[in-house]
Amino acid sequence: MDRFRFSLPTTVIAERGAVRNHAADWNLGRKALIVTGVQSAKASGALDDVIAALESQQTPYVIDDGIRANPDDAQVYDGAEIARREGCDFVVAVGGGSPMDAGKAIAWVAGAGIEREAFFGRLPGPSDRVLPIVAVPLTCGTGSEVTPYAIITNHKIQSKTNISASALFPRVALLDAAYLENLPQAVLCDTALDALSHAIESVYSLRSTKASCMLAFEAMSVIVPELLRMTHGMFVNRAALHYASMVAGMAIAQTGTALVHAMGYPLTYHKGMPHGRANGLLLPGYLTFMTEHCPELTKRVLAAMGMESPDALQALVDALIDGLGLSRASLTEDELRAFSLTPLRLEMMRRYRAMPTPAEVIDIYRNGL
Ligand SMILES: [Fe+2]
Repeated sequence: MDRFRFSLPTTVIAERGAVRNHAADWNLGRKALIVTGVQSAKASGALDDVIAALESQQTPYVIDDGIRANPDDAQVYDGAEIARREGCDFVVAVGGGSPMDAGKAIAWVAGAGIEREAFFGRLPGPSDRVLPIVAVPLTCGTGSEVTPYAIITNHKIQSKTNISASALFPRVALLDAAYLENLPQAVLCDTALDALSHAIESVYSLRSTKASCMLAFEAMSVIVPELLRMTHGMFVNRAALHYASMVAGMAIAQTGTALVHAMGYPLTYHKGMPHGRANGLLLPGYLTFMTEHCPELTKRVLAAMGMESPDALQALVDALIDGLGLSRASLTEDELRAFSLTPLRLEMMRRYRAMPTPAEVIDIYRNGL
């Protein structure tokens, strides 16, 4: 057997009513900081469940509902200040990727007392205290509930910085697909495309292993049939997508993401495009590129998705984006050149099985947009 390392210290509890049914399993301290956004945690009923569960344990809490999409360090430090002032000793992050990632960064900053100037310049170290994290995902894309990553917008580089450390793995992830029932179709589509991108990128990572590939292929095999149903206006199994995004998260927890995410971040930062949609639009061009450079691996990727060629993925993405009336973006020639050469992209490509030239990166952008 090949040598490999596999780490996944998060306890996952997936069931209807998980938050209320298992309060004792995730009541990790004396006072909780609930980190969330303004809307989805309340609308889905998740916030009510978290509060009821904490009250059943006589655990006090405070709420930071100031997290917006693509959170930056300002939001992290606002949350950490609440945690410090209120004496919170664990974090319950409720929402999509933004509140979960912000919650992880808050847990680090509040626990270890990281100076703001040092925030983007270092990673959580073994001696840093990080408050225990509970994650309640309300979308089906990020997989952040089972990863050691906090992706935070960094205005200095006009993109996102990935803060990565094993201490950022949530202790407990609570999955209840009932929270996804009222998720708008556009969010369902965008986040499922994000999860599919995680799975595909993970397979091509230089750090992929048999174990991580098993998870990635499983995620693809669940996500693609659901996305096909979505294009036909049929019933979409949200519990299946919730499960698959977690499984894809388990894969990238081992490998990280690569080119598609690095290319997608500027589209989100500069064009306001939702993260998952940016990845989804770039995926077919990426898969075409990888077909030429890693044909055998690509055959397995296509088989897991039930597809004959990257053209089928292109048709699926087009049917989703255009069928649901979702917006794309256009880039000027100057933007194309700038986006194809960002330091972040080059750094991430080193983890990648094939290195596209800047011209090939521009082709992938053009193909997707
Ligand atoms: Fe992602």
